[in-house]
Amino acid sequence: MRATLKRCVGLIVVSGLLMFALFHTWSPGSSSEVDIGPRKWSAINTLLHGKIQGIAKGYQDIPYHIKPDVARGVAQNTCVCLADKETVHLPFSNLLWPRAWAHDISLAFLESHPDPEGVKRLRAQEYSSFQRRSYDPADELIITEAQSPLQYPTQGVKVRPLKTIIIPGLGLKEEKRSNHTVSLTATLGTFDVAATVDRVSLKGAGEKHIVLSSPLLSALNRQLQFVTYTNTVFHPKTADTIQFATGSHQAFFNIKVGHGTIPRLYNFGHQQEYNISALVTIATKTFLRYDKLKELIDSIRQFYPTVTIVIADDNEHPQPVTGPHIEHYIMPFGKGWFAGRNLAVSQVTTKYVLWADDDFIFTANTKLEMMVDILEKTTLDMVGGAVREVTGYTATYRHTISVEEGGEEGDCLHIRQGYHHVIEGFPNCVVADAVINFFMGRTDKMQEVGFNPRLARQGHLEFFIDALGSLHIGSCSDIIVSHASKIKLPWTKTDIQKAYDKFRYTNSNSDQKLHTEIYYFKNRFKCMTSH
Ligand SMILES: *[C@@H]1O[C@H](CO)[C@@H](O)[C@H](O)[C@H]1NC(C)=O
Ligand SMILES: *[C@@H]1O[C@H](CO)[C@@H](O)[C@H](O)[C@H]1NC(C)=O
Repeated sequence: MRATLKRCVGLIVVSGLLMFALFHTWSPGSSSEVDIGPRKWSAINTLLHGKIQGIAKGYQDIPYHIKPDVARGVAQNTCVCLADKETVHLPFSNLLWPRAWAHDISLAFLESHPDPEGVKRLRAQEYSSFQRRSYDPADELIITEAQSPLQYPTQGVKVRPLKTIIIPGLGLKEEKRSNHTVSLTATLGTFDVAATVDRVSLKGAGEKHIVLSSPLLSALNRQLQFVTYTNTVFHPKTADTIQFATGSHQAFFNIKVGHGTIPRLYNFGHQQEYNISALVTIATKTFLRYDKLKELIDSIRQFYPTVTIVIADDNEHPQPVTGPHIEHYIMPFGKGWFAGRNLAVSQVTTKYVLWADDDFIFTANTKLEMMVDILEKTTLDMVGGAVREVTGYTATYRHTISVEEGGEEGDCLHIRQGYHHVIEGFPNCVVADAVINFFMGRTDKMQEVGFNPRLARQGHLEFFIDALGSLHIGSCSDIIVSHASKIKLPWTKTDIQKAYDKFRYTNSNSDQKLHTEIYYFKNRFKCMTSH
């Protein structure tokens, strides 16, 4: 036993060395060109689709009974642009039972567009190339049929690009016969064996299709333990669907091809307590309101004298903002809101970034330690706090976002007030999809999502729509920042305030058009519903 084991290990090492030598002298792909365009359907995929349809369509003569309440939830490609119906007619009933309004984005965007058919076509083209680019064979449904004599790994086989692995778990269980045969077929790589077994014949070693056969089932099964897969077409992250077959039986499994994820870690020293200056950078964007900005900085310094503050400034006539631990970045005039957020967040070197508007004021309730604590102890990527208005009203602006498939016209975006669930161990915190504009996030994750710089004057939800599915977001009602007076009577406003309001809150036609365009084209929505 020990001798065979030794021999096997020896064989693996020898064949590994041989393969290494082979690849060194003759490396495929280095001279020939490789198609790195979106992956095309391989013959295997077509076969797989046919099979799954075949399985799904069986037993058609057996009757069934639909359960309407469940079936309604399963509806596919059927979202329609509808507002909630009014159920109760009472004064203020809308406050008690908020109804969702619905905005037909397709209609709003296309009716004023000079070439609606052209833009529809372009969006469809871009969408299909996006789908091809993001196609992942590992997302394909694979069903293992009952009573298949084939044994194989259904998931979890990985290979680094252009490297070789032994495929674990291959086997054949069938009645004794004169000739036992299996075959393996790949698209992005080749097969070989790391060791040979007597009385097994191999055809196609080093190719995309290999056939192994033997009069002895045990010899064939032994041989199957040494089958290798070598990835030969470079792609940083994809999968190869392998077809494993014997006689009339076929099975499919994926080998994931890709580099491992490279971590991005922050070295902030070891401390007993959270050192906010080492862990957090405060980012803000200012426009016209230097008095407000000064109040914000002064309030931060009362509680966090050494935390770095990054300021993005797109004023026409920038004024100096100086002081220790302050980074002031001047941008071209009027670059705007999201461009400023992008710039500020791009300069952060700490593990976390806190976003604060320039008219916020830190108080004793603005406990950044609590935000760091929940981010350190959970899988959240981002946590929002609460903003207290001068009136005493405190807002958390928690929303859930979902997207429903809507077929060729585009999808439906649904935004609702509320959250998914409370976070265990943090009774004042919940999980949601969108939070208020006072939030702390993991810097690398925030940078990954980014802020669309086209949104110059207004934008908030747009970030959370882009983040849907990639950020895990929380909201805590007990981490509170104060909002400097926002509601002022028009005759008490200074000229600067009036200019700011004009710039920021004028809902110009072109502004609305931009938002509709982003929803219609960039995100491919046809409809939006919300409270
Ligand atoms: C067994 O079957 C395979 C495939 O049909 C064939 O290639 C192989 O030569 C056969 N082997 C023997 C020993 O008959
Ligand atoms: C906290 O971090 C800052 C910045 O890295 C450092 O200067 C300071 O000494 C640290 N404070 C403590 C108490 O470790």
